[in-house]
Amino acid sequence: SAAEKGGFDWFMRKEIFEQPKAVADTLLGRFDENHRLTLDEVRISETELKSIDKVVIVACGTAYYAGLVAKYAIEHWTRVPCEVEIASEFRYRDPIIDPRTLVVTISQSGETADTLMAVRHARVQGAKVVAICNTNGSTIPRESDAVLYTHAGPEIGVASTKGFLTQVAACYLLGLFLAQVRGTKFGDEIATVMTELESMPAKIQQVLDASQQVLDLAEELHSVRSVLFLGRHVGYPVALEGALKLKEIAYLHAEGFPAGELKHGPIALVEPGMPVFVIVPPRGRDQLHDKVISNIQEVRARGARTIVLVEEGDDEVNPYADVTLRLPQTSTLLQPLLAIVPLQLFACEVATLLGHDVDQPRNLAKSVTVE
Ligand code: G6P
Repeated sequence: SAAEKGGFDWFMRKEIFEQPKAVADTLLGRFDENHRLTLDEVRISETELKSIDKVVIVACGTAYYAGLVAKYAIEHWTRVPCEVEIASEFRYRDPIIDPRTLVVTISQSGETADTLMAVRHARVQGAKVVAICNTNGSTIPRESDAVLYTHAGPEIGVASTKGFLTQVAACYLLGLFLAQVRGTKFGDEIATVMTELESMPAKIQQVLDASQQVLDLAEELHSVRSVLFLGRHVGYPVALEGALKLKEIAYLHAEGFPAGELKHGPIALVEPGMPVFVIVPPRGRDQLHDKVISNIQEVRARGARTIVLVEEGDDEVNPYADVTLRLPQTSTLLQPLLAIVPLQLFACEVATLLGHDVDQPRNLAKSVTVE
């Protein structure tokens, strides 16, 4: 009913607007006054966490893309190699896992069959399994060694939105916790990241407050045939997730690519007028930012309509951006929590304008309980 949707037309739209609170709730109470992370639900000893030599993240769909984002942060903070794998592929390729592997599963529902089978397979090999999950008491956390719950509240829309943001936040907490236990990051460094994480709900709200521009863009673009998304570093999984939203609910052909791969194939797809969303990393000391600006020029020179997601104050993109969607400033690692939001809203609005049932897209289920 309309009341259940809190005045929104779709659960999905309601859930997009709930994201500041969902992220705040996921972070709540995880950090004590001594700057020490407390993750009570992680019931694996510190000795075991110190001895792991590999992290393997296993998930499906949007949760898999959250895992791809997390890999960058976990490796950066812990210096432990981190692989991310689609759950349905993991089990059938004889993966190299043993008691020194920490397997992290990500699942909003906690009932996805492929992910559950991966948990069972990992535990038979002696690996420890941590479940990142949004549903209390669901099957995956029950069968895991430890659980870190996201506190997003129930997610009804089939296409995951607040699930994604809270999964990224929870993975970051786990990464910081591992770094703390293993001594690769210390109290004040962890506190700096936590403070930044805690500033994200207000910044997500700022992005939501600017949603009219995204709705106008959807109005303009909803009859296109195909949309590309480009990003680098953590912006690459954001591009994949932005494309997935359009496929799931708007039934549009959409692809996400690492911007650096453009010249190895995807640029051949660019036709005059084709919308290309580009996620621009914050200006920093590395050259990522400038490389992405070059990529924007390259697609624009072939006639693409460039829609650029970029931090406030970065005017270098202006000459090459047909549309600029501004994001509050943050670090590269945290930018996905902001950059995905306009892409979720865009997909929701395009699907609405095309007359589709946003909450119950054709052929999809909220939770896929068969392999
Ligand atoms: C289905 C849903 C997706 C979700 C995926 C994984 O495909 O439609 O939105 O990302 O399952 O679900 P999980 O509950 O394991 O996160």
